[in-house]
Amino acid sequence: MKYNRLGNSDLLIAEIGLGGMSLPNDSIDTSERIIRKAFDYGINYFDTADLYGRGANEILFGKVLEGWRDKVILATKVGNQWQDGIEGWTWNPRKSYILQAVEQSLKRLNTDYIDLYQLHGGTLTDNFDEIVETFELLVQHGKIRYYGISSIRPNVFRKYLQQSAIVSNMMQYSILDTRPEEFFGEFVDNEVGVIARGSMAQGLLLDKVSTKNYLDHTVADIQQAKSLVDDVGKKLGVSAQAIVLKYCLDKPAISSVLSGIRTMEQLEQLLQSHTELAGIADERIEGHFSMLPKLQYQEHR
Ligand SMILES: NC(=O)c1ccc[n+]([C@@H]2O[C@H](COP(=O)([O-])OP(=O)(O)OC[C@H]3O[C@@H](n4cnc5c(N)ncnc54)[C@H](OP(=O)(O)O)[C@@H]3O)[C@@H](O)[C@H]2O)c1
Repeated sequence: MKYNRLGNSDLLIAEIGLGGMSLPNDSIDTSERIIRKAFDYGINYFDTADLYGRGANEILFGKVLEGWRDKVILATKVGNQWQDGIEGWTWNPRKSYILQAVEQSLKRLNTDYIDLYQLHGGTLTDNFDEIVETFELLVQHGKIRYYGISSIRPNVFRKYLQQSAIVSNMMQYSILDTRPEEFFGEFVDNEVGVIARGSMAQGLLLDKVSTKNYLDHTVADIQQAKSLVDDVGKKLGVSAQAIVLKYCLDKPAISSVLSGIRTMEQLEQLLQSHTELAGIADERIEGHFSMLPKLQYQEHR
């Protein structure tokens, strides 16, 4: 496993991470086996959020990591306030809320510190200074080690990039979602790591059949992308998933590719695909996908 420094932090995270969102919260046993197997393989970076399963996903990690919490890098997120008994959630990045939310997350995660605390979105109308001051306070108090954001709004993430000490931004990025690319240089220059999520496009680049558009890609575009992934994989003697991972990992801005895993079979495929990467380390695959339309963010610029 290759471990990358996340931005300018001291966090050395595995180049592939495990996203908790798809784990079966109701099956501790299956989830535990998935998390442990991922760790045994070398994955030390796990991502969750207070919102996933309305706290259930954090509780799951808290249970599974008991006794070996210090061996992993645990990331969670804040900003979406939900209340028991009330459907939906509201955006709340206020200091008073974050200070209470972090305590709740720490309790659910069964830990006294969070390695990476991420603002789960954000808008230009948020009180930027207050948010940054709150995260800094949490660092000073040892509740969190570092903070980052998860944003695909250029006018939001660029502000944090330029005016705060974030170490990371989580962004959807894949062969089908190249929108972040135009900003990769800025992330590298500012020593802020990009965490890529959605590299498989929820499976559309693998075996899931698309019946509707994905972003601005038509069903035909998606099919073409999938065929290209398969062809390149065959040519290089690796799986489609290895190609999907490599497309992301070849970008210097990307610190880790976070994959959502629901079943043990999916994890096994992910690990097998990662193993295959060693055999194609010297290949450059970007050019194989040049005929696909490159997308750009249209809003929040
Ligand atoms: N705004 C945010 O901060 C944000 C948003 C989204 C995600 N995330 C994080 O990023 C992680 C990954 O994101 P994601 O789940 O959106 O994207 P993803 O990793 O591209 O997609 C995960 C889904 O892909 C499918 N899959 C996994 N392995 C597969 C395989 N071998 N073959 C076919 N399909 C496979 C599964 O779908 P099925 O369950 O249908 O089988 C799984 O739920 C999440 O777990 C979460 O931690 C953060």
